[in-house]
Amino acid sequence: MIFTEILGTGSYTPKKVLKNDDLSEFVETNNEWIYSRTGIEERHISTGESTLDLAYEASTRAISAAKINKNEIDLIIVATVTSDYAFPGVANLLQAKLDIKGITAFDINAACSGFIYALQIVDKMIKGGGFKKALIVGSETLTRLTDWSDRNTCVLFGDGAGAMIIGESKENKIVDIITGSQGDVDMLLYCKNPELKDPIINHISRQDHIHMKGAEVFKFATRIMPYTVTSLMERNNITKDDLNCIIAHQANKRIIDKSAKDLKIDMEKMYLNINKYGNTSAASVPIAIDEAVKTGFLKKGDKFITVAFGGGLTWGGAYIEF
Ligand code: ACO
Repeated sequence: MIFTEILGTGSYTPKKVLKNDDLSEFVETNNEWIYSRTGIEERHISTGESTLDLAYEASTRAISAAKINKNEIDLIIVATVTSDYAFPGVANLLQAKLDIKGITAFDINAACSGFIYALQIVDKMIKGGGFKKALIVGSETLTRLTDWSDRNTCVLFGDGAGAMIIGESKENKIVDIITGSQGDVDMLLYCKNPELKDPIINHISRQDHIHMKGAEVFKFATRIMPYTVTSLMERNNITKDDLNCIIAHQANKRIIDKSAKDLKIDMEKMYLNINKYGNTSAASVPIAIDEAVKTGFLKKGDKFITVAFGGGLTWGGAYIEF
């Protein structure tokens, strides 16, 4: 029987930091409002680095943490909603930039849940016997989809990338993964591609930006995150006492507070780094896991659940022994 495990993690964020007070220079907002409603103090934004550049930096860190030769990697999946090109995908260009020849590489889009979806795919591809070591990356330059005149959304997002090497294992470390979708017909959270109109007459295509019904998304998030964690605990016959920590998608500290309260899990077990990065979409979970490892919050042998929700609407969670 083939099992899987995390061999190494890495992350990278662009150097430029935008503090809450910096935002009040171009929208009517203030540090107090942003921090008290979201837990965000600052976010990193790209001033030129592409989604590929961020993915590459995170990947090289994960490869060196895993202590593997990059040529052992036989599969790359990048989760992103901000691919630099419609095609080729970030994963294909990442393969070339890492100089790994001829392996399987592709992108997926499940918004902020994308990394958990990618984890589920590689887990099954390795357990199926076809692949041995996969690189998965969540990489986003979400600020390129941000409407910097909309205070309801522009205060929330940041750029960054997180990566993980997943490999074959003799022990069952990546124990269970669940994902789900509830098509967003009410358009609670979206960013539209240019409309299909007569290409001769309407030849100007403009990039849309993120639209969000914040309060409705908040309700969805605070329902689906506890549901996902509870489902994983029930499916695996464990209780919250068996878990060392929960590493949740960092969208809003109040969403994490409310989820922890409903799950009756101590906030000390919930990893938090939203204050430094804001919501980095598919990069949020792997950045948080990497930082949890680097700071000693997540230790070898610890059991944890990682959980996310996002546009789609999508959700996902994984029960893992590190
Ligand atoms: N600064 C100051 N005031 C603001 C700001 C701001 N940046 N933004 C909104 N306000 C105002 C609103 O205009 C409103 O004023 P009004 O009462 O006069 O109309 C007031 O503050 C309250 O606004 P609410 O939207 O009710 O504030 P809420 O407490 O719901 O917080 C928030 C808003 C932070 C967006 C919250 O709803 C939330 O976090 N929702 C979930 C967001 C999320 O997780 N999105 C996931 C995106 S992931 C992806 O896939 C891209």
